[in-house]
Amino acid sequence: MVIREFEGKQQASDYQKFRFEPSQEVIDLIFSYLEERFSEPYGFAVDAGCGTGQNTRTLAPYFKKVLGIDISEAQVEEAKKATGSPNVTYSVCQAEEVPVDEASVDLLTASVAAHYFTIEPFLKEVDRILKPGGCLAIFTFSLNIEVHYKDRSEQMTQVFAEMIDSLVPYEHEKVQHLRNGYMEMYETIPYPNKRRIENIVTKIRMPLSRLLGFVQTSPMFPIFLETNPEEAKELIRTAEERFLRLMGTSSGETEVEVWLQYVLILASKPQ
Ligand SMILES: C[S@@+](CC[C@H](N)C(=O)[O-])C[C@H]1O[C@@H](n2cnc3c(N)ncnc32)[C@H](O)[C@@H]1O
Repeated sequence: MVIREFEGKQQASDYQKFRFEPSQEVIDLIFSYLEERFSEPYGFAVDAGCGTGQNTRTLAPYFKKVLGIDISEAQVEEAKKATGSPNVTYSVCQAEEVPVDEASVDLLTASVAAHYFTIEPFLKEVDRILKPGGCLAIFTFSLNIEVHYKDRSEQMTQVFAEMIDSLVPYEHEKVQHLRNGYMEMYETIPYPNKRRIENIVTKIRMPLSRLLGFVQTSPMFPIFLETNPEEAKELIRTAEERFLRLMGTSSGETEVEVWLQYVLILASKPQ
């Protein structure tokens, strides 16, 4: 069954504003893997579960053609609004049924999205559309996010973890794949050439307000807001107060450093 947790227009616009750009460390690993098989300029990349296009746009300079696909019309509309490159297009469709020719794709990526896909039909579709030697790159950051600020990092991280814990009752069961570091996805990939790299740490500086905005783009948050609006607003308000108190500031524009831990799966279709 497909997931319909990303359909809201406001959610899509917040997504564009608050979600993170893909990790440079992860992008570098993907291109080293791709370079072992193809040479630049690369031909065609598909970004599955593209959301508002953060990862899709990152791929644009390296490929002749990039297609971002997502099941949510609202997300794709937002992606199209962002400043784009002429070689990038978007389409509303499922990752399990991508409207491209067989053996046409050099690289297929899924950034923070593959846990929502139905694994076997997705991997079958990947096998249909990848060229021989074509690469699959699936990655996500884990929910163990650290928030660093001066000597208060431990307490800041604890406040953040408590926020995420409050959202667990609203979590879709498929998020379990993410919590398991995509192990099932990795084991199901039928290609002999595959690797799974864990603990790729990416550090991003951002104002506290953006971090709080990011939490509200989680698909669990709108469900919490609908089920229990007062508690949901209170969660953000209280967390903001606690963060500001720890930081000794009253400004939400004060920057913190957020440490994300990524897992990346790379696999290549046999030649
Ligand atoms: C957490 S967002 C990630 C968006 C973006 N790739 C990023 O890095 O921020 C997950 C996206 O996957 C999409 N999605 C979920 N199931 C899908 C499916 N079966 N086929 C295509 N897209 C899907 C959702 O609509 C959503 O936009």
